[in-house]
This record gives sequence, structure tokens and C-alpha cells, in this order.
Amino acid sequence: MSYYPREVIDDIRSGNDIVDVVGQYVKLKRSGSSYVGLCPFHNEKTPSFHVNQDGQYFHCFGCGVGGDVIGFMMKYGNYSYPDALKVLAERINYILPEGEMSADIVKKRELKQNLYEIHKIAARFYYEQLMSDNGKIAAEYLDKREVKLGIRRKFGLGYSPVAKGALYENLKSKGFSEDTILKSGLVYKRDNGAYYDKFFNRLMFPIIDVYGNIIGFGGRVLGDGQPKYLNSPETEIFNKSRNLYNLNNAKASKIREFILVEGYMDAIAIYQAGFHNVVASLGTAFNENHAKVLKSYADSVILLFDSDEAGVKAVLRAIPVLENAGLKIKVLQVHDAKDPDEFIKRFGAAEFGELLKTAKNHIIFQAEQLQKKYDLEILDDKIAFSKDIAKLLSNIESSIETDAYLKEVSKMTDIDLPAIQDEIAKLNNGVAVVRMASKGSKINKNGIDEARSGLISILVSNKVYYDLLSKHIKPEEFVDDFYVKTVSYIYSLYSQDKPVNKESIIGYFETVEEQSRITKLFVRQVGYIDDEIEKAMNDLVRKVKEAYYDKMISDDYSNPELPKLMEMKRNVSKLYISLSDG
Ligand code: GTP
Ligand code: MN
Repeated sequence: MSYYPREVIDDIRSGNDIVDVVGQYVKLKRSGSSYVGLCPFHNEKTPSFHVNQDGQYFHCFGCGVGGDVIGFMMKYGNYSYPDALKVLAERINYILPEGEMSADIVKKRELKQNLYEIHKIAARFYYEQLMSDNGKIAAEYLDKREVKLGIRRKFGLGYSPVAKGALYENLKSKGFSEDTILKSGLVYKRDNGAYYDKFFNRLMFPIIDVYGNIIGFGGRVLGDGQPKYLNSPETEIFNKSRNLYNLNNAKASKIREFILVEGYMDAIAIYQAGFHNVVASLGTAFNENHAKVLKSYADSVILLFDSDEAGVKAVLRAIPVLENAGLKIKVLQVHDAKDPDEFIKRFGAAEFGELLKTAKNHIIFQAEQLQKKYDLEILDDKIAFSKDIAKLLSNIESSIETDAYLKEVSKMTDIDLPAIQDEIAKLNNGVAVVRMASKGSKINKNGIDEARSGLISILVSNKVYYDLLSKHIKPEEFVDDFYVKTVSYIYSLYSQDKPVNKESIIGYFETVEEQSRITKLFVRQVGYIDDEIEKAMNDLVRKVKEAYYDKMISDDYSNPELPKLMEMKRNVSKLYISLSDG
């Protein structure tokens, strides 16, 4: 979030007409209700960059970027949100509550510098401990786990000693204030006023960001004990969902396919085996921020999780997240070992290299997992399974690919090709009601995003739809964070009787990505004819709700609520919202 109150932001936005501002940088020509020019964000010869004065937003039909005047400044000048605001404030001689903020920023920057420094010192301290007599127990543990000396150095592994304030004393002697030391998360203060190191008697794994800064630690218990891994808390410099273990080395490998594993030790073992393009999540569930980070350095990901049930679940959960980020996904399971580390120890690096080559496309993996849920000797199961498979395959954008998988899946499961094809056709027809200005927009995920977008457009168009819809569908049923955020905001505006329009909703978002997404949603959506809107709305609501239940169901097949969820999903088809109820 930005540092300024909403009112300040609104003042700045309304003082800077988007046509004036964009016109300073882009030659615009009037065309009907909007202005058009050559997009400054991608190379083009015919103009597809539109600026809409009424709605105070811009959108490029070529590259898809869009947003309000603040978004334009952010993108054009490569500014952060507050900096873009500052530039626009200056432009209209608007005095920002400036003094406080810049002092804040200076203080924050100083704190960050200190925290980086503290982490560097801590890593050196732990490393020296590992090399000293004190750290014999950890060194022996690493011997046992066959981590070579060069790798210990490369990863900066260390040992946190038993003496409970050792790191604290060390940092204190270097002149850091108690307050700063506490903010590193490496030390905490007891009620009795004593300072304790967070980590003691553990094997230490420094966590390094892509710029080479040490930002946190993972600490493994030596031998058995709980918790097995202890991680640094989130701090001013450590965000667990924006960082991955070994990302710095994976990036440096220049290989655009990353191997994604669950454990620190797996990452190290794979690196030691000669595959540097490996990353691990930091003891948190893999999420869309991780996926975004990956997407910046890789085009494709091999998911290599533990071979147990939890591993399979984690894979199934990660697939849609990676898919949404536009990454290619392969899945690999180790055999005859519980995790990659054990596999390498047992069979060696060369065999691991061979294993990597057998990674399967995620569609095939998902189909195999679906098959396990059903007994294909039973007719009902077979039908349900065909439907699931159809849904899975209709997610694929390229029809050539769909055909290829179709053949493979049909062979694998012994289900007739035409049966699955029929189901896919049915699914795709359901989407047709969402009429899009289809330029560049592909129907993906069975059109689920289009369904969500369609409902949002209807919601925004008139409060009567909010009055009806809010009784039947909750924001979280839109599943995807971006849509959930959008719908929650629209609901909150309506419930407080605030104006709801494109402008107010675009202005709610503070990143170019989100602004582009919401602008695209508004620009691409074509209105409905009055007598068709009730049907469209109902089709969309059903689609969105079904996707929600599908997600709830597939998230956790062992959920005791499963029968209830399936029942609720079936009931969705009976739901009908009538406009005359409003
Ligand atoms: P070992 O081989 O036993 O050292 O562990 P591993 O690296 O194979 O990891 P494991 O499969 O046991 O767990 C995967 C990852 O989950 C670890 O690397 C940690 O990031 C995280 N993790 C495991 N156990 C714990 C725990 O007790 N607490 C926390 N916070 N995270 C854990
Ligand atoms: Mn392991």
C-alpha cells in the first residue's frame, strides 16, 4: 500500500487529466470517444494505444498494458507507486505530506542496510563456528549427509552454537543497537529482559536473494528433534513468498528450466550432483508470488517433490499456480527413495540426470492422479472420470496439444476418444455466452477467467446486480486473488454507497500488472442486451461457483467435508437468480 491517504491520491489523480499527461509523452489523435497513438511500451507501426478521457484510463490492445494516470507514470518512468504520485503532484504543484514520508523512507533504507550487514556478520559467525571445534557435531553431520567441503563453503553453511546469546553478544560488540538486532529476527528478548539467539545448536543455511544479500536463515536440528527446521521470521528484508532457496545460483546457471524441490537439503544435493538450476521454497506453501519470481528467470519448471502423499498434494496444488504465471510444467517423482537427496545418495548423479529426462508433462500426471480416485470398472465412475479428464484437457489452449494428450490419456485409461471429445465440446459451448471483444483474448481454463470478468462487468454496470448477486456469491468464490480483491472492493464500495465505476476500481490498484488486468477486463467486455442478461448472469454465476467448489474439492481429497462440497457443487446447477427478485 502506498504511504498516502486515499483523499490525497484522489486529489492528485483528479488534478492530472490522463489525456494531458499521456499527451506529454505520446502523440495522441482524437478518434471517436478516445485518443489513439503509438504505444510507448512496445514497438508498433499502427497505433493500438488508446486513452479514454471519460474513464480516465489507458489501454494498449497490442501489448495489453493499461491503467490510470498513476499507472501510466509508473510504467513510463519506471517509478514506484509513491514516486509516480510525487511526479504527478509536482506537475500540479500539489504539496504532498512530504517531510514525514521522506524521513520515513530514509529511516527504512538505513534499517535495511543494517539488517543486511547483520545477516552477513551472522553468516560469517556461524560459518566460523562450523569450522571450529565447537561445530564438530555439525561438521560430522554434514559428513554423514555427504555434503562436500566446497559445497559447504559455496552455500555458506554454518553452525549456531549452544551458548544462547553468542550471536547477540557478537552483534552488540560491533555496535548495532538492541532495537536493530531484534528487528533482524535472529535474536529475541525474554520477559526477564535477557536476549537470546533464535538459533542454537543447529546446522545453519543462509538464505540469499538474487542480488547476493543474505536475508534470513534456515536452521536444521542436528539429528532428531522438533522442530526439524526453524526459519527466520519475516522481516524488513525477508519475504518468504518472494524468495526461493538457491535462486541466486539457479539464476546464474542461465538455464531457463528450473527444478523445484521442497527441501533445502534436496536443493543442495542436486546442486552438488551438478545441476545448479534447482530452487526450493522456504518452508512455506508454494504461492503465486513464488511463481512470479520463477517466471522472471525461467520458462519452464520441473516439479520434483517427495514421493509421499503430501508430495503429490503439493504438486497438484502448485500446478495451477505455475500455470497461471505462464510457466511450462513438468512433474517428476523419485522412485525407491523418499526424496531427491536420498535418491542421489543411493543411485548417484548420473542416474539422477537420467531421471530428470523422464519428467512428464503435468497434464499426464494430473490424469494419472485423477484416475486413482475412480474405479473404472464401475460405469458411473467411468463417466465421472471422463468428465474430469475433459475438464483437464479443455484447459489447454492449443488444439494440437489437446489432441496429442487426448490420444495419450485415452490409451492410458481405456476410455473412448469420442466420449472425451464430446465432453470437451460441451464444456466449450458453455463459454460462448460470454461475448468478448475477442482481440487477442484466448478462452482459457474453460473460460473461467472470462466468466469471472463477465460477472464483475455486470456488477459494475448497475447497483441492482449487486443487490441480487451479493446474496448469492461471495468474493472468495472468485478464488483467484486478483478477482477476490476486485469483488471485495466493489462490494465494499456499494455497501458504503460510494460511487462504483471503472475509474474508482482501476484507481484502487497500485501496481502496473493489476491495473493492466483490470483495465483489460473493462475494455474487453462487451455489454449485454437487456433480455439476455439474466441468462448470461446465471451461466456466469454457475461457472464461477463450480470452479470454486472444484478448487475446494481438489485442494484436499481427504477433507471430511468432501461429500458436502460435492453436494453443494451439484446444487449449483439448480440455482437460478431471477431479475424480478430484485
Ligand atoms: P532433511 O533431509 O531431513 O534434512 O530435510 P529435507 O531438506 O529433505 O526437508 P523435508 O522434506 O523434511 O522438508 C521440506 C522442507 O520443509 C524443509 O527444507 C523446510 O524448509 C521445511 N520444513 C521441514 N520441517 C520443518 C519444520 O519442522 N518447521 C518448518 N518451519 N519447516 C520445516
Ligand atoms: Mn530429505
